[in-house]
Amino acid sequence: MRIFELNHVLGLHCLTQLRNKNTSITDFRRNTYVLGALLLGEATRKLEWEKYDIETPLAKCEGILVKSPVFIPILRAGLSLLNIALKFFPDAKVGMVGAQRDEKTAESSTYYQKFPEIKDQHVFILEPMLATGGTLISSIQEILLHQPKSLAIISIVAAQQGIEYLSSFENVALYTGAIDASLNQQKYIVPGLGDFGDRWSGT
Ligand code: URA
Repeated sequence: MRIFELNHVLGLHCLTQLRNKNTSITDFRRNTYVLGALLLGEATRKLEWEKYDIETPLAKCEGILVKSPVFIPILRAGLSLLNIALKFFPDAKVGMVGAQRDEKTAESSTYYQKFPEIKDQHVFILEPMLATGGTLISSIQEILLHQPKSLAIISIVAAQQGIEYLSSFENVALYTGAIDASLNQQKYIVPGLGDFGDRWSGT
C-alpha cells in the first residue's frame, strides 16, 4: 500500500481538536470538515480533467473541468467525509458499505455493500478510522474485482497494525491525517480520538 501522511500544520491543528475529548460536537464536525478537505485535496491531486473555455467579466479564459471519482463511505463514520467530498464533486457516484462492530468481541462484520459502476473509475473509500483493517479488506477485494482505474482510502487516523494488515495491496493508496502506534484490547486506536461515529453523530 502506498501511504501518504498529511503533514500540514492546519491538519495537525484540526487533529489536535479532534483528539481532545473535551471538543464539542460542533467543533468536532468543523475540524473533521477542514481536515477532510485537506486530505481530499491531496488525494485528488492527480484526477483527470479537460480544458474548458469560459469568460470572466474582463476576458476569455481557459479553465478546467475535473471528472468526478466514485466515493464509497464505510457506514456510519464515512458519511462525515462523504459530506465533504460531495461539496467538491456534487455529481459523484456513491457506493456504500455497512459495517458493524460487535461490542463484545470488537470483531467487525459487513452487513451491506452496494457499488455503482467502478470499472475504469478513480475510487475513494472513506473510512475515518482505519483500525484493524478488518472491515476494509473484503471491500477492497470486491472493488478490485471490478477493475477501478485507481483505489485509495481516505482516513483521519490510521493505526500501524491496520496499515500492515493491508500492506499487500500494492496498488491501493492511503491518505491519512495521522498514523497512530497501537490499538487497545477493544481495537480502538491509541491515542486516537475515541469512537469517531459516536462523536460525529452525537450518540
Ligand atoms: N473506530 C473508531 O471510531 N475509533 C477507533 O479508535 C477505531 C475504530
